Amino acid sequence: MTTGDRIDVLIIGSGLAGCATALSAARAGARVVMLTKGVRAEDSNTWEAQGGIIYRGVDDSPERLAADIVAAGAGLCYPEAVELLSREGPRLVEEVLIGHAGVPFDRAPDGTLDLTAEAAHSLPRIVHHADRTGRSIEEAMLAAVRREPNATVLTGRTAVDLLSLSHDSRNPLDIYAAPTCVGAYVFDHATRQVESWLAKETILATGGLGRIYLHTTNPAGACGDGVAMAYRAGARCLNMQFVQFHPTTLYHGGERFLLSESLRGEGARLVDAGGREFMFDYHPDGSLAPRDIVARGIHQMMHETGSPCAYLDISHKKSDWVRQRFPTIAARCQEAGFDLATQPIPVVPAAHYSCGGIAVDDEGRSSMRRLRAVGEVSCTGLHGANRLASTSLLECLVWGTRAGADAARCCAGGEDCYFPDIAPWQYETETVDPALVAQDWLTIRQTMWNYVGLVRNRRRLDRAHEIIRELQLEIGKFYARAELSDALISLRNGVQAALAVLLAAIESRESRGCHYRTD
Ligand code: FAD
Ligand code: SIN
Repeated sequence: MTTGDRIDVLIIGSGLAGCATALSAARAGARVVMLTKGVRAEDSNTWEAQGGIIYRGVDDSPERLAADIVAAGAGLCYPEAVELLSREGPRLVEEVLIGHAGVPFDRAPDGTLDLTAEAAHSLPRIVHHADRTGRSIEEAMLAAVRREPNATVLTGRTAVDLLSLSHDSRNPLDIYAAPTCVGAYVFDHATRQVESWLAKETILATGGLGRIYLHTTNPAGACGDGVAMAYRAGARCLNMQFVQFHPTTLYHGGERFLLSESLRGEGARLVDAGGREFMFDYHPDGSLAPRDIVARGIHQMMHETGSPCAYLDISHKKSDWVRQRFPTIAARCQEAGFDLATQPIPVVPAAHYSCGGIAVDDEGRSSMRRLRAVGEVSCTGLHGANRLASTSLLECLVWGTRAGADAARCCAGGEDCYFPDIAPWQYETETVDPALVAQDWLTIRQTMWNYVGLVRNRRRLDRAHEIIRELQLEIGKFYARAELSDALISLRNGVQAALAVLLAAIESRESRGCHYRTD
């Protein structure tokens, strides 16, 4: 496969959504390229996932899973998406993750899968590999993709923009075609060249946008690239205001680190500085209430008591068991000077997950022809206004598998695969001052954290709008003259994604799920 080739399926992003898509498209006979801006293909939110992925509990049923998703989703879950995931998800965990990729989920001594619980699940149904489930899934799925002769995995490649007939074709008459994606401009970190990748089907699997917030569980790459590219190309985005804050991240001097909800699923309690289980003030399920309610409960308790954090306490469990069940979390707590097994750990909420994204159907098709989106960058409607824990990885698997198979079918069927002549990239030369980039990121992150965070109101949103809009114009101006780099691409996308969240938050006047307004 040479760079800039015309290919069947171009997948942007190599987390679970990208891998599931690549595997299913390649197994269905399509020629697939999966590229990522990561130095390693593993670099992703998927790699960081801790708690697990939904499978099937004892006495569970698709109806029961669906009811839990809908209850958490604050009345906005799309029933068809919920039904699809509940029906197909557990089977795909069995067939693809366990059967084909061989993910080593933990098992009980009798060989059955160890099932854990998380908040708002009515029974234990989540499979995991200790507290490093994402890493095990990513390793196994990447290996499975790399075994496919039809699939190529490329690292160090950042998609800059989608190519569309109306914007990028050299044939002037192509502006009359329906909005159609034909591939992407891709920046190669090693050569610093921009390649035009033309594809019959382009699939965004670029993950989330937590990094537009000051405090987040997300790793460095989660800057909202996919949403930003889709916005610029004119694809429909949905529910962008619903950014989910995870209630429990380690409160200390360094970057926020997730303390998995499965800790609470296994009995950890949220308490205040006096040891009181304050969450019962807000919900009858206490520490195991839906995530949006727990995050706001912590925020409220901190506001009322003047405390800088809440505490997560699992010290009533046997120490050896805690350290063996949660080895990664215990080690991180220890590095920060806390002992997970014997003392309450200080925690605060942080931005975690984008429930909204590029609007797609049950095969991942967006509003633009030949463009699909899968995983966290997409909005299937499954999560409504607040995601149920451990549905995200399953959504990546279900929609990735379906989108890959359908994309391969469209390629083989010779559906529209017109490849236009594309204008070459215009290189600019001005050097970018890294101090400007750093300061712009700080402005985005602080503005989003302070004004578009857990608790919102008109004044904060209006103030944020002025700041972010102005900044976007500024960034647009220097982007147009500057020498291209990965850092610059991320910044341009970050400000665009922030604006998308902000505009949706301004438009949405009712409090619902993760979007909570005091006015
Ligand atoms: P990602 O896994 O984030 O992959 C995105 C890919 O796109 C990466 O390869 C990235 O490099 C690439 N990319 C981005 N932009 C570009 C670009 N412009 N050009 C090229 N490549 C690009 N969910 C659960 O269900 N269970 C859990 O236990 C769980 N725990 C979590 C713990 C943490 C700390 C975090 C952060 C999330 C957790 N989640 C969990 C959520 C879940 O991990 C993510 O929603 C899911 O992994 C997203 O997968 P994805 O494939 O859509 O995106
Ligand atoms: C966690 O382990 O708490 C994260 C689970 C999720 O985001 O689904």
